[in-house]
Amino acid sequence: MSTERTLVLGATGKTGRRVVARLRLHRMPVRPASRSSETPFDWSQPDGWDAVLRDVDSVYLVPPAVPGPVHDFVARVHAAGVRRVVLLSGRGADTWGDSTFGMDMRDAEDAVRRSSLEWTILRANNFDQNFDEELFHAPVVSGELALPAGDVPEPFIDIEDVADVAATVLTEPGRHAGETYELSGPRPITFREAVDMIGRVTGRDITYKQISAAEYAAALVEDGFGEDDARHLADMYAVMERGLIASTTDGVATVLGRAPRTFEDYVLRTAAKGAWDR
Ligand SMILES: NC(=O)c1ccc[n+]([C@@H]2O[C@H](COP(=O)([O-])OP(=O)(O)OC[C@H]3O[C@@H](n4cnc5c(N)ncnc54)[C@H](OP(=O)(O)O)[C@@H]3O)[C@@H](O)[C@H]2O)c1
Repeated sequence: MSTERTLVLGATGKTGRRVVARLRLHRMPVRPASRSSETPFDWSQPDGWDAVLRDVDSVYLVPPAVPGPVHDFVARVHAAGVRRVVLLSGRGADTWGDSTFGMDMRDAEDAVRRSSLEWTILRANNFDQNFDEELFHAPVVSGELALPAGDVPEPFIDIEDVADVAATVLTEPGRHAGETYELSGPRPITFREAVDMIGRVTGRDITYKQISAAEYAAALVEDGFGEDDARHLADMYAVMERGLIASTTDGVATVLGRAPRTFEDYVLRTAAKGAWDR
């Protein structure tokens, strides 16, 4: 176990705050950073990056939503004497071809791989927690989730497992250098099954509705997304439809020596907290 200081970016976000909690539990020095954190960090303010990187040994890197900044950031990381970086990316990022989805993550991977840092990349499937902490939450609470997801299943992953993997990699210097871990849950399930399970457990009538990618993008724009962002998000479902990220992987077991948490476990825990109550 290392006692080196870790800078956690995206520290108020879904994975970052869980990584911070785990490092603190293990009494590891940690510096949580984001625009609203005590240590401010903004991808659009490079002048502030060097101060955040002072006396840091490792970085947990949640990439910015646009391609570009990670290349400069990695150069600063190197110059600051930081030794390792753990990057969060998306499942099968090198198989998405010319999809406009995930250009941010692929660009960040490129920046990290080109560096001489000790890097590890975590490529996660869609998170279980998208159903209660992200985009799918409001539609599920309203009783209908409308997506262009089709019937190709997705091996959703519990973010608690992503955070367990990240914290383990960060606390075992040297063991995971140059590794790309593909992180899936234990079983592929369709969005229809996922929504049905949440409905059964909560005792509520919640349905899945199949819509076209164009309808989905239009709905996102109506909700305030920019047109490009909406199109890129809709493109993710085209990647899924090709079956590129539908199989399970052994990434969680490789790092943690145990199976990933099930979607059933996630639904039971989350329903008990009242996350889907009206
Ligand atoms: N959702 C999924 O199913 C899934 C699956 C695989 C990979 N991913 C990838 O995971 C990443 C998101 O990670 P997450 O879910 O842990 O985070 P998140 O919950 O989306 O939160 C984003 C974090 O980034 C910070 N942030 C936002 N804009 C920033 C800026 N301009 N400068 C600095 N920090 C900024 C936010 O904090 P402040 O507002 O305080 O700055 C927050 O801590 C994305 O790259 C996504 O593509 C997501």
